[in-house]
Amino acid sequence: MSQDIKETVKEKYADAALKVLGGEKGSCGPSGACGCDPVSDNLYDAAQTRGLPEGAVLASLGCGNPTALADLHAGEVVLDLGSGGGIDVLLSAKRVGPTGKAYGLDMTDEMLTVARANQAKAAATNVEFLKGEIENIPLPDASVDVIISNCVINLSADKARVLQEAFRVLRPGGRFAVSDVVCRGEVPDAVRHSMELWVGCIAGALEDNEYQRLLADAGFTEISVEPTRVYEFTEAGIDNVLAREISGRVMGAFIRARKPALR
Ligand SMILES: C[S@@+](CC[C@H](N)C(=O)[O-])C[C@H]1O[C@@H](n2cnc3c(N)ncnc32)[C@H](O)[C@@H]1O
Repeated sequence: MSQDIKETVKEKYADAALKVLGGEKGSCGPSGACGCDPVSDNLYDAAQTRGLPEGAVLASLGCGNPTALADLHAGEVVLDLGSGGGIDVLLSAKRVGPTGKAYGLDMTDEMLTVARANQAKAAATNVEFLKGEIENIPLPDASVDVIISNCVINLSADKARVLQEAFRVLRPGGRFAVSDVVCRGEVPDAVRHSMELWVGCIAGALEDNEYQRLLADAGFTEISVEPTRVYEFTEAGIDNVLAREISGRVMGAFIRARKPALR
């Protein structure tokens, strides 16, 4: 099951990357009441994206704006889990400056091609895109100051493992500052079992309290989940009855936590 999910997610995001390479905008979740992509549209303001390669903005498939909410400082090491076309890695790289480093990690070759092309256009030298899975992060223990991620952890079939890996690579005192889709209350089984809604970042969304529990189980403290955008879906992108059932209960959220400092 978890291998099936991973392969289907990879195919969906390889297609999205190929669209971007062809000059089209990718999309993430089903259509919403706005007649647009309620999950990924209008996440960044013009001041933030000014100076970024157009391909990085076109490839944006997130559900939030983690670098606008995360407190990043010069000289820090940032890791973006599921970095896609690289928009948040390039934004982080500007914030941490030449003495810092921004890593992007993604399992999809086509997305890594888009991200590395964007890095070259941005002439960002403090950036490195790594191929790998967020369930097995290819970095040593205690090597990262801040973990960011944008609409990716919901896609994993093993979220507990992702959070344990995030904890492992963070330095003591390091921060987890992630945008993700979460839900409040029960989500109908028909939604949970839809592969289309899984790859669209809805079916795999953790319930808010469950997210906090998994973070605490991994060892994190100072945990908070703050809704940033509540989604209203229409039958245009999702079955009519299901749309009504989940509208208003699925949301983009900013999730913060900290690995305790050494005493
Ligand atoms: C919804 S897109 C978000 C991309 C990017 N964070 C953004 O905001 O544009 C999900 C990305 O995560 C990657 N991804 C999904 N599951 C992954 C996993 N288990 N390990 C590594 N990458 C993964 C996909 O290849 C894709 O590029």
